[in-house]
Amino acid sequence: MTAPHHAQAPTARRHLFVTTALPYANGRFHLGHMMEYIQADIWVRFQRMQGHAVHWMCADDTHGAPIMIAAEKAGKTPQEFVAEIAATRRAYLDGFHLSIDNWYSTDSPENTALAQDIYRKLKAAGFIASKTIEQFFDPVKAMFLPDRYIKGECPKCGAQEQFGDACESCGAVYAPTDLKNPRSTLSGATPEMRSSEHFFFKLSDPQCVEFLRDWTEGLDRHGRKRLQSEIIAKTKEWLGEDGKLGDWDISRDAPYFGIPIPDAPGKYFYVWLDAPIGYLASLKHYFDSGKAAAKGEARSVTEFLSDPATEQIHFIGKDIVYFHVLFWPAMLKFAGYKVPDSVNVHGFITVGGEKMSKSRGTGIDPLKYLTIGMNPEWLRYYIAAKLNANVEDVDFTAEDFLARVNADLIGKFVNIASRCAGFISKRFDGRLGDSLDADAEPLLRSTEAVAHDVAAYYETREFGKAVRRIMELADAANQYVDRRAPWLLAKDPGKADELHRVCSTALTLFRHLSVMLAPVLPRLADDVATLLALPLDRWGGFAEALPSGHRIRPYTHLMARVEERHLDELLGLLPEPSVAKPVAAPKSATTAKPAPAVPDGCLTIDDFAKIDLRIAKIVNAEHVEGSDKLLRLTLDVGETDAQGAPRLRNVFSGIKSAYAPEQLIGQHTVLVANLAPRKMKFGLSEGMVLAASDKDDDNAHGLYLLNPHSGARAGMKVT
Ligand code: 2FM
Ligand code: ZN
Repeated sequence: MTAPHHAQAPTARRHLFVTTALPYANGRFHLGHMMEYIQADIWVRFQRMQGHAVHWMCADDTHGAPIMIAAEKAGKTPQEFVAEIAATRRAYLDGFHLSIDNWYSTDSPENTALAQDIYRKLKAAGFIASKTIEQFFDPVKAMFLPDRYIKGECPKCGAQEQFGDACESCGAVYAPTDLKNPRSTLSGATPEMRSSEHFFFKLSDPQCVEFLRDWTEGLDRHGRKRLQSEIIAKTKEWLGEDGKLGDWDISRDAPYFGIPIPDAPGKYFYVWLDAPIGYLASLKHYFDSGKAAAKGEARSVTEFLSDPATEQIHFIGKDIVYFHVLFWPAMLKFAGYKVPDSVNVHGFITVGGEKMSKSRGTGIDPLKYLTIGMNPEWLRYYIAAKLNANVEDVDFTAEDFLARVNADLIGKFVNIASRCAGFISKRFDGRLGDSLDADAEPLLRSTEAVAHDVAAYYETREFGKAVRRIMELADAANQYVDRRAPWLLAKDPGKADELHRVCSTALTLFRHLSVMLAPVLPRLADDVATLLALPLDRWGGFAEALPSGHRIRPYTHLMARVEERHLDELLGLLPEPSVAKPVAAPKSATTAKPAPAVPDGCLTIDDFAKIDLRIAKIVNAEHVEGSDKLLRLTLDVGETDAQGAPRLRNVFSGIKSAYAPEQLIGQHTVLVANLAPRKMKFGLSEGMVLAASDKDDDNAHGLYLLNPHSGARAGMKVT
């Protein structure tokens, strides 16, 4: 079913199956998700404006150990857990005007059937091998442990608290079995080696490498590289001189939240096998539920996918390239499915140059952005202005955001309408004049060429260049308005015709600019369409004047300006009862007021609020070899990492004289959670537990660990 790469005339109607990466269903959206969706949405809207048929699919990525564990921790079934996250999606998707055609789930009958079908076909074609492997097993949790749930000492440099795959201290890469003193971060238990049969996708088959070399370096049907140059360079590295890839372990043992492997009881597909298949599951659901038909696609999903004219285009972030340009196309190819036409990779979004981090409280919450009344199209415009087609990170800074939105979007674009539309309403009963201003003829003539460039930029995802080109035209339009000064013409009753011509000309230019910006600013374009009483949903008409005598609607303000207070609130720079560390204050957005005087030796409530006290559950406690004072505590403070996996803290506490470790396991106490981590001889201590003591009493009875009343749970804030 592979599509042959025959060339198409540029005007032929394209049939596009577009996807964005499926977000893990264990956390809400962050700004990175919004950037990817905004990028895809701009591209998709541009294609639709060209008259092409686009079907944009997405879904929740629901399976895998981290979600299973997080659900268990929350006292929910995995299905309940992912349903709760799924219910949060709509507010973001609608809020940022994202035109995804179908949102589905990988935990669905369609995905099960497709994953099992692909597996069966790969097996029949000889691409599945089985092998018995040895792996760490948590005897308390009765499950095999993914690498990220094992910690221990680095086998190379001896650093403590290192994960099972690589050392953060010396950079050594190893197998979890190489760790010294390994322990399960789920239970604190020492893992045991156990063997189990696993299934592998035979990527080492020479046919795979041959296919992938060809596919990764190939051109799409439009004669463009299907991958960006940076990505091709990466794939060359991965495919290597010797052209051999390792086989890919695609099975996991029960207990696992995933799709059962046919004819293999107790075995499930590894989440990364079924996740991209979720693109197809979403598409199938979209067709089978009649949604595709409602959008004018009358064929079945099989007909649609087997049509060589259908293009399959993925948008992803740079962290998941390996899966999408090696495993995914190979899997599809050797199962006899259609292979992707292209994979478009973007970088990360940083805030003030910093990688976003939930635990440090940095970053921007997209929902907060919306709830504090910020216009979603400001962000769409800002992201568009900063994006290019390379795999580069985009940095969000408050000053830059403010300048681009207020100075460019409003100051240059919206300004044209706000300076001219009112005269048409007030002086000419809303009717446009029957001729345009000869003075603006070169400018009007140039719009077609500008639109041509802008279209090419949209097509190739050079959105920053598209926006720049549009803003150059907006600059020229403003210069024209400045030169012709309608507000002066309006003072002279003898110049009414001229005023009419100038304003009609400016609005014609404004119409063209609005069409060009419509993929980025769909809501604003709708408002302009209402104002001008003209549809703006087709790309074109750049050589045409607005119909003479056409009646527009009265001008109402199209877009408000961003204010510093918005950004202060968004970035957490306004006082609020939170201890989250704000990102560095941009100069223009500081609102700090002088602090009121407090008596010597006293704290303000804000000082106190800086101390993040949390209820911690002691999941493990043990003696520390070589120390007669310390116990090593493993604490659950209700934290998870970016993947939603539980993050336990390691804390050394000088309470050995007062407690035996086994007395403490399962108890709750209070942790100073934002104490800077301290490197100790025995490892890193990530916080301090609170205990009462009589200063002078150094004996075993003088130390009392704080213990909350029953009902307090791990992670609760102590205030
Ligand atoms: O990295 C992630 O967030 C994954 N959930 C992406 C999956 S994309 C596709 F393969 F489903
Ligand atoms: Zn190391």
